[in-house]
Amino acid sequence: MNAFRKSLVVAASLIGLGLANSAFAELVYKPLEQPIEAPNPNLKIESVNEKFAAKYPKQYQSWRATEQGDKIIYADEVNPRLIVLWAGYAFAKEYNAPRGHFYAVNDVRSILRTGAPKNENEGPQPMACWTCKGPDVPRLIAEWGEEGYFNGKWAKGGPEVVNSIGCADCHDTTSKDFAEGKPALRIARPHVLRALDKIGKNFNKSTRNDKKATICANCHVEYYFAGDIKQVTFPWDNGVTVDDIEKYYDDLGFTDFVNKISKAPILKAQHPDFEIWSLGMHGKNGVTCVDCHMPKVKGADGKVYTDHQIGNPFDIFENTCANCHDQSKEKLQGIVAERKKNVKDIMGRLEDQVVRAHFEAKAAWDAGATKEEMEPALMDIRHAQWRWDYAAASHGGHMHAPDVMLRVLGTGLDKAAEAHDKLVRILAKHGVTEPVKVPDISTAEKAWQVIGVDIEKERKAKDEFLKTVVPQWEKEAKAKGLIAEPVTK
Ligand code: HEC
Ligand code: HEC
Ligand code: HEC
Ligand code: HEC
Repeated sequence: MNAFRKSLVVAASLIGLGLANSAFAELVYKPLEQPIEAPNPNLKIESVNEKFAAKYPKQYQSWRATEQGDKIIYADEVNPRLIVLWAGYAFAKEYNAPRGHFYAVNDVRSILRTGAPKNENEGPQPMACWTCKGPDVPRLIAEWGEEGYFNGKWAKGGPEVVNSIGCADCHDTTSKDFAEGKPALRIARPHVLRALDKIGKNFNKSTRNDKKATICANCHVEYYFAGDIKQVTFPWDNGVTVDDIEKYYDDLGFTDFVNKISKAPILKAQHPDFEIWSLGMHGKNGVTCVDCHMPKVKGADGKVYTDHQIGNPFDIFENTCANCHDQSKEKLQGIVAERKKNVKDIMGRLEDQVVRAHFEAKAAWDAGATKEEMEPALMDIRHAQWRWDYAAASHGGHMHAPDVMLRVLGTGLDKAAEAHDKLVRILAKHGVTEPVKVPDISTAEKAWQVIGVDIEKERKAKDEFLKTVVPQWEKEAKAKGLIAEPVTK
């Protein structure tokens, strides 16, 4: 931390002298050396969830009930500011709030972000985009090795990744323990095991309690696609706070995309749910994801089992919060709702500031500002947006660690203010003294127009893809025995 502060001070003073601007701000990505796991024929992964229905009906049926969490919230349409913040990146086309685990495969196929590839070598996304969608992923990594799995376009995995988040994502289903009805939690994705080692949470040496949180860290974390093969990697070398991860990406020179309006080098946060939880009151006290999202419940036969219907813990209050707290459901839900409101309020203000900064930067470029002049301001935009996104992409963060969320957003406002301050001076230098006007982005349609996305064209191509390519994928997967009929009671 001290070293980090010191390096910032040095960088800041160099900028003060007008020196080494580019050394500070020019981000040149130099991928880290990291292991690439070879195929592992000893690791057998049964990805077909239905095969466990007969032996474990309660776990299976409750897992399947995540189907009830079926509401899609189209976040870009609810909040068109997102379209500006992600201009030039596929998230600007469609971004939805998470829903039930049952839908993961369906949703990644349907979302506009994955485009409409006609064959396995086409399309905007890499294989990495399947990585949190289901147990076929660890199966493929075991069969093909990490290079064989990650290398290539997303469409390559279409006929293979067909089962949604399920049993073998969390359990060693081939173990003796599992056969005896014990949990046998297991992480089978090599990149996750490596990342947990970095934060001192080696999975196999972890306590049962720790595993109840790290099992969700399979997917509910921040990550990026590293190197030529776009290997999913967690940026945890310095730790998991917003500052730790920002420093990791800055040192590495990594950028997810360049914002089309401002040309700022932007980091796209994924969903640092595990990170933020670990920094919050419950995380610090060893209250895990499973305590709230997968409680033990009593079946009709009087036997206790784990409720696999992951959703909102308030829906099963008696088995979650009420295990540890005396307050009523209304009382606790009221507290959480108020925290959510406060977090959303500050988040919205930060969005407004970053949106404005993107347009101010555009105005500065248009007025003739140079790269050297712009770089420090663009770095401020990068850091402001990173802070916004770390908070915004962490679903449930207002519940998991509201104080952390507010600090992250508060420091984001600070960075946005610095960007604005610099940009106003650059604009003045180039003769622009009037405030920069933000165009009308009051609806998604207007915002898409501003950033130049032809949304109707995207939607048409996607419809065609869903009607022609996806059925072909399913046919191939069925022929290989990868898809089974759902088991109903
Ligand atoms: C997202 C992770 C996750 C998925 C997916 C998942 N489980 Fe579990 N499962 C758990 C956790 C967590 C426990 C409880 C661990 C503990 O008590 O230490 C558990 C417990 C179990 C147990 C032990 C008995 C019990 O009920 O506590 C069985 C059996 C089981 N699951 C079967 C399944 C089956 C079958 C599927 C697929 C239909 C499945 N699980 C999917 C996380 C998962
Ligand atoms: C293999 C990856 C993976 C694992 C493991 C996983 N999740 Fe998820 N989770 C996802 C994805 C992907 C979604 C979004 C699915 C969608 O919207 O299509 C999601 C959605 C959710 C949601 C939103 C559900 C809703 O109805 O709104 C919750 C809550 C959640 N996960 C909690 C957990 C918890 C707790 C664990 C650990 C016990 C866990 N997840 C393990 C990938 C995973
Ligand atoms: C102390 C209880 C508690 C713990 C521990 C907890 N959660 Fe949550 N989580 C909640 C509650 C309650 C909500 C819903 C908040 C609301 O209603 O506004 C939630 C919301 C979520 C959501 C957002 C769901 C959506 O549809 O937007 C995800 C994802 C999630 N949690 C995942 C996790 C993961 C992963 C962990 C562990 C790393 C975890 N939670 C730990 C109580 C908890
Ligand atoms: C396994 C036990 C456990 C469960 C389950 C649990 N909590 Fe807690 N909760 C704690 C502990 C421990 C603390 C730490 C402070 C303390 O000692 O009261 C805490 C603190 C809190 C606080 C006050 C701290 C803060 O964040 O300001 C709130 C509010 C809270 N929990 C809400 C909830 C809600 C809502 C749920 C259900 C979604 C829930 N808790 C589930 C154990 C639990």
